[in-house]
Order: sequence, then C-alpha cells, then structure tokens
Amino acid sequence: AKAPVNVTVTGAAGQIGYALLFRIASGQLLGADTPVKLRLLEIPQAVKAAEGTAMELDDCAFPLLAGIDIFDDPRKAFDGVNVALLVGARPRTKGMERGDLLEANGGIFGPQGEAINAGAADDVRVLVVGNPANTNALIAQAHAPDIPAERFTAMTRLDHNRALSQLAAKLNVGVSDIKKMTIWGNHSATQYPDIFHAEVNGRNAAEAVNDEEWLRDTFIPTVAKRGAAIIEARGASSAASAANAAIDHVYDWVNGTPEGDWTSVALPSDGSYGVPEGLISSFPAVSRNGSWEIVQGLEINEFSRERIDASVRELEEERDAVRKLGLIK
Ligand code: NAI
Repeated sequence: AKAPVNVTVTGAAGQIGYALLFRIASGQLLGADTPVKLRLLEIPQAVKAAEGTAMELDDCAFPLLAGIDIFDDPRKAFDGVNVALLVGARPRTKGMERGDLLEANGGIFGPQGEAINAGAADDVRVLVVGNPANTNALIAQAHAPDIPAERFTAMTRLDHNRALSQLAAKLNVGVSDIKKMTIWGNHSATQYPDIFHAEVNGRNAAEAVNDEEWLRDTFIPTVAKRGAAIIEARGASSAASAANAAIDHVYDWVNGTPEGDWTSVALPSDGSYGVPEGLISSFPAVSRNGSWEIVQGLEINEFSRERIDASVRELEEERDAVRKLGLIK
C-alpha cells in the first residue's frame, strides 16, 4: 500500500473547509489508491469547530483517511506537508481599503510561507484559495525561498469551470464536449475567460458562438461576477463549487491533465505572453509528470490582448502595493 500523503488545510472550520475535507478524505483529491493524513490549521477561536468537523470525518469511516491532526500553529501544521491548501484568509469587511486587506493577508500568508519553507516535504505543492488568491500566493512564495517558485499556485479553476458551464449552456452541449478553455490573469473581476482557443467537439468555440456581443456583454461578465451572483442568490458565498475546483486543481496537478486538453492555473509567470516574470497570473496549463507547464505559442488577438493586459496590470498594482507594505522584496 502507498504511504499516506500529508494534506494541510487552512481555514478548516470555514465554509469551503466543510465542503472540502470530506472529499479529500474520500480519496477525490489524490486518487482512490492514496491514503491521506489531514492536518487542519485554524485560528485558536475556531479550533473547537475544527474538532467538530474532525469528529464527523471520523464518523464517515473513510478507508483512505489515515489520521487527522488539528493545529493553531502554522509551523506544526505544515511540518512534513505534501499538499498545502491555503483556504483561510482575512475577508474584506465594510470600509476596508485594499491596502488594509493586503496587509492583513500578508500577516497570514507571510508566516505560512515561512512555515512551509521550514517544514514541508521536498515534493510540496501549494494551492492558495483564500482571496486575494494570486497575491496571497505571491506573498507565501516570497517567504519560501528554498522551495521552487512554481510549487506555489493560486486557484482560477472555479472560474475555468464556470466558463465551461456557461459556454456549454450557450451552445447546448455537454461540458465534456468543450476543451481548451482558458482563464487569464487575476482571480478577480478583471479575469479574462478566453474562448478563442477553446474547442467544441473539435470545432473552434468562438466560431461556433459567432456572437461577439454575447462574448463581451454576457459571457465574460457572467463568469467574472459569478461569485457575487451566488452570494446574492444563496445568501452565502460559493463554497461547494470552490471546494470542487480545489479538488480538480490538485487532482490534475498530481495525476496529469487529459491528453488533448488543458486547464487554467495561476502560477509564477516565466514571462510567457508578456506577463512579467514572477507574477502569479492565470495561464492555460497542462500538468505532466507532476508539474505545470504553461501552454506555449497561442496566438493572442487584439480583443484578448487588451483584457489580459488589464488583468495583469491589476496584478502588478497588487504586487507593488504589497512591496510597498514590506510584505515582499
Ligand atoms: P470562511 O470565512 O467560511 O472560512 C475561513 C476560515 O479561515 C475561518 O474558519 C477562519 O477562522 C479561518 N482562518 C482565518 N485566518 C486564518 C489563519 N491565519 N490560519 C488558519 N485559518 C484561518 O470563508 P470560506 O467561504 O471558507 O472562504 C475562504 C476563502 O476562499 C475566502 O478568502 C474566499 O474569498 C476564498 N474563495 C476563493 C475562491 C477562488 O476561486 N479562488 C472561491 C471562493 C472563495
């Protein structure tokens, strides 16, 4: 039997945590032949709630769940970690400026990056879900100089899946008929869901849609503002779909993306597509042998260029702001 994989989940007592932990423990994160040890990190006030979730996890009697430990100290929680899911973050509250938000999150993701640097296993993979996800990932990565930068990723898979679902509905096809969707840029309202390289049953998706107005005025804003629409409808933010996307992201990272398709991942730029090196921005990517590779050589039309640049500009502003706050060099 395989050795258990250590999976650390921060914000374990939160909404996403509750939707995520059971799926990890059931084998959906890594595969049905891989036992997992869960390491839950919470703030001290939420440790009791995390213990309650751990009781329920016990009560599922998951055959693959090899243990659960709960911590309020990042150094302990990330000791030996193979897969780190950084979900807990400081949400924006009323009247909070962007600078305050970035600073509060710097106080979380800086120390977590240091703890990962100090104690993680050699093969550690990090997925940041907590918002602002790209910049939180950048902060954590900057505090982990001994770990290859490309092990730090942020989640745009939910945006990717939303785009698949919207396009499938428009074309009256199944989501699995669509390949090569791309989310570019920041996981924020400036993100750019790109269908110009997507294929629908082998046919170019933009040609199949053949409706630039729909693309510009319906598809892009619907995908980008879907989170707000869910809050409006549900009275709470998207948690199960976010947890599902985190599962998809890590599963593909570890097991590889299917032949003939790609997915969307925010990872440190290597300078591809004019995105400044080091910025954690979303790209089309495939996973091969356990590593992400940015899909190269796509032709970017003017419509796309404008939108990619705008989202990348926002990421640069966030990076400059956290640099000014002394959260990164
Ligand atoms: P939540 O508020 O229900 O849970 C957050 C949990 O994090 C709380 O239990 C809190 O105690 C914990 N936490 C706070 N600081 C912590 C720290 N320093 N260490 C460990 N735990 C800490 O929030 P929810 O709904 O679970 O969302 C979590 C994050 O995910 C939010 O930042 C949200 O904006 C983000 N999100 C990201 C998405 C994406 O696509 N990238 C999609 C949906 C949500």
